Amino acid sequence: MTASLYPVADFEYKHDNALSMEEYKVLYQSSINHPNEFWGEQGLRLDWMKPYTKVKNTSFKKDNVSVKWFEDGTLNVSSNCIDRHLPTRAKDTAIIWEGDSPGVDKRVSYQELHDEVCKLANGLKKLGVKKGDRVIIYMPMVPQAAYAMLACARIGAVHSVVFAGFSPNAIADRIIDCGASVVITADVNKRGGKPLPLKENVEEALEREDVNCIQHTVVFNNGAPINPLANTQVWWHDLVSNCAMTCEPEEMNAEDPLFVLYTSGSTGKPKGLVHTSGGYLVWASMTHEKIFNYKPGEVYWCAADVGWITGHTYIVYGPLANGATTVMFEGVPTYPDERRIGQIIDKHQISILYTAPTAIRALMCKGDLAAQDSTRDSLRLLGTVGEPINPEAWQWYYEKVGEKKCQIVDTWWQTETGGAMITPLAGTTDLKPGSATLPFFGVQPALVDSDGNELEGEAEGNLIIKDSWPGQARSIHGDHERYGQTYFSAYDNVYFTGDGCKRDADGYYWITGRVDDVLNVSGHRLGTAEIESSLVAHEKVAEAAVVGYPHDIKGQGIYVYLTPISGTEITPELTKSVRDWVRHDLSPIATPDMIQWSPGLPKTRSGKIMRRILRKVAANEHDQLGDISTLADPSVVDNIIENRLNK
Ligand code: PRX
Repeated sequence: MTASLYPVADFEYKHDNALSMEEYKVLYQSSINHPNEFWGEQGLRLDWMKPYTKVKNTSFKKDNVSVKWFEDGTLNVSSNCIDRHLPTRAKDTAIIWEGDSPGVDKRVSYQELHDEVCKLANGLKKLGVKKGDRVIIYMPMVPQAAYAMLACARIGAVHSVVFAGFSPNAIADRIIDCGASVVITADVNKRGGKPLPLKENVEEALEREDVNCIQHTVVFNNGAPINPLANTQVWWHDLVSNCAMTCEPEEMNAEDPLFVLYTSGSTGKPKGLVHTSGGYLVWASMTHEKIFNYKPGEVYWCAADVGWITGHTYIVYGPLANGATTVMFEGVPTYPDERRIGQIIDKHQISILYTAPTAIRALMCKGDLAAQDSTRDSLRLLGTVGEPINPEAWQWYYEKVGEKKCQIVDTWWQTETGGAMITPLAGTTDLKPGSATLPFFGVQPALVDSDGNELEGEAEGNLIIKDSWPGQARSIHGDHERYGQTYFSAYDNVYFTGDGCKRDADGYYWITGRVDDVLNVSGHRLGTAEIESSLVAHEKVAEAAVVGYPHDIKGQGIYVYLTPISGTEITPELTKSVRDWVRHDLSPIATPDMIQWSPGLPKTRSGKIMRRILRKVAANEHDQLGDISTLADPSVVDNIIENRLNK
């Protein structure tokens, strides 16, 4: 594999205090050879109420997966993200909020963050929320979303943030699965100049017959008229109006859950991954500091959404644990137009920008507009996350956004991993566009073939991680057995990521994408099974198969094959009604890009849909179908090819 190399030494911007490659290698080896010593020392980056005496206690045996770090220590995550900075940084900015409309912004100091979090924490207590209770957070990208997360952490409640783009059904499923007693939401979410209803979506979710655990809904007023609320609802401002600005942080065990975050898998409903307090925060803090080589006083912007793990770890917990100034952006990168990102960078003098390839591609396809009307002189580092970055997008990001001055850290990780796992370190690692480069401290990646044999040297295979790291998810909420089955049963005693990957002669890792039935659409993770089960719930759909296909901007698009209930007339209106159905049932992010009706789907004689064939047709590679002799009725394929949509 040949690739251009961008040696770190060539960068005009020097990275003070960055590790040399030699230092990285030595430290990395010690993290692998002596995890107890290494992480025992790293754990000290947090303030503990009761110090830990044990560090690592983990087992990857599929029937009894057990991951514990710092297990006898106690701490509070919110006081680590706020209180401990107050003696030196009370007046420093914790959060810079940039509103949807240009010109609307706000700075929140660490003292204000403390006061707001404590008030809400006291408000939640008034509503009866206790340690261990689950709270759903369905919020726009406003500072109150971070306050809500930290207020839960302060009183030991477990938050579950639901992405504000999800539909009522998706909210209801998550409420039921985690048995939440309170929802925190807002009246509206402002995106690209349009107010989208949040409270209404929550109300619709709560109307579902099977949702009966929610006792209260807290509603933040994000600009819509303030109307009287129903009995079980309370305005955020009313709830906190008489609440004290101090709230004693609850003492939590390192292994007490901090949050549950739902993500899609290849089967069944989304899984609620459980992240705990101590190890997660150590991981969030250390990765944020080392990958970005973050220095106090710098303004750092992770342009993700708090509804995803990237927002949890790299907008809220990592930066705030490090006393950083973190930017929260309510809007979209293309509103009012493509110049917005550059303008925000100049306005807030941002040093570090961390975003997703899909956002880069969306800006790139508008030519160089994104680079107009801004100098971006303050930038020193760029980051990407969420999907493989194609070399063209990498080059464009490097040249047009970073003006060839900024290194790009391409960070590979997952909801399950809590924080970045394979990633360059700013100022340390030479770059190759499209490669996430080398493992972070404590991460032991390996490649295996389909039988689980480990591949050495330059190779391509399935990516596994051989041992535990502190930020790892501990379980699937309410279903520990599924946790073992999903991640630890494909290969013995290792964690299976679900990703394919290549390793080059320099030991650099190149993620090639999912090897299971999980799609990555605009950096959003979606299970084909989830979309299929939504599709077959439509009254005119008999059978559905969903596959991904290469999409210039989204990375992957959603291609749907449907067989109708017999006697159904296929009309454009019907196709539209199916598309709208999925949007409403799941989320606009799950909207099919292409819908092909077919009298039948290609199946084996035992009735299994041959997705391999459907993927090839969707990718317009129908001349590479391979062996189709095992199909029950090969003529189905001719029809599918003839009527294919991606030509
Ligand atoms: O396929 C990988 C891809 O995103 C998946 C994880 O998605 P999610 O849990 O939603 O977390 C996204 C944010 C961390 C992975 O299994 N992925 C993530 N980062 C990269 C990536 N693929 C290639 N390169 C990356 N840097």
